[in-house]
Amino acid sequence: MTKKIILDLDTGVDDALALAYALGSPELELIGVTGTYGNVLVEQGVANDLALLDLFGHPEVPVYAGLPHAGDRDGFEVLEISSFIHGANGVGDVELPAATRGPEEKSAVDFLVESVREHGDDLVIVPTGPSTNIAAAIEADPEFAEKAHIVLMGGALTVPGNVSAWAEANINQDPAASDLMFRRARDVTMVGLDVTLQTLLTYEDTAKWRELGTEAATKLADITDYYIKAYETTAPYLGGCGLHDPLAVGVAVDESLVDLLPVNMKVDTEGETRGRTIGDEERLSEKEKTARVAVGVDAERFLAELMERIGRVLAD
Ligand code: BDR
Ligand code: CA
Repeated sequence: MTKKIILDLDTGVDDALALAYALGSPELELIGVTGTYGNVLVEQGVANDLALLDLFGHPEVPVYAGLPHAGDRDGFEVLEISSFIHGANGVGDVELPAATRGPEEKSAVDFLVESVREHGDDLVIVPTGPSTNIAAAIEADPEFAEKAHIVLMGGALTVPGNVSAWAEANINQDPAASDLMFRRARDVTMVGLDVTLQTLLTYEDTAKWRELGTEAATKLADITDYYIKAYETTAPYLGGCGLHDPLAVGVAVDESLVDLLPVNMKVDTEGETRGRTIGDEERLSEKEKTARVAVGVDAERFLAELMERIGRVLAD
């Protein structure tokens, strides 16, 4: 039986890779994409999702626009570092034909709430941007926190952050929302920098996509090469680009790709350590752990899975 999945994306180059990974996974049925802000404004992210779904041959997947900024902020501006890594348009400054359809009328938060009520244990939600939509769904419906299965890309437990010494980019955008998610949701799997920076893609890999000769393959290779190039400046010691968001989808398909540590997590919401993801000292001895943090990964196996799954989408 296939598992239903919703991707909550701030698309974003690695979000685009996560989308392709999900579409190329026979174990998954992508029932919708919800858009958030982060790498780009929410409107741009939604436009990217629609354009990429067309490019990948799946114009039937509905896209829902989410909240435009954190609840405790008046607005949102894209950070300079985000544009540097993902391009001003989020997809490596590669031009994609605009989709002929727009987003659904229903809001992302309503779609998330209704989907959890309807599908329960058959559904996994994979947020790969700030936790703003997820926190709003938790506040909108107590059943959401009880029943949702969430596998998020975000945070860092055993390594430093990537926007500050403490904070990873997704958590940094809305620490209060991520904190609420960790405190209230019953089943959260955190796929953070601890593991995502061990999974890397290189120009040799994107060259294999180019050999497929399709428009989707060429465009995704162009998009990803922009991101690999940015990593040569931001983290030259890695020797490739971080496969953050697709790894979260990989774990949603098969959690044996990672080693999971059960911890009751929290997020520091102010002060010097704002955005830090760490164990909650006040829930340390609680028997039930509501989060599991990925602290090890079979990078080789994941990369093979990624090439096969994305290759499948690009070849068609
Ligand atoms: C995360 O931040 C975003 O820039 C990426 O898309 C990924 O979700 C990595 O810290
Ligand atoms: Ca992302």
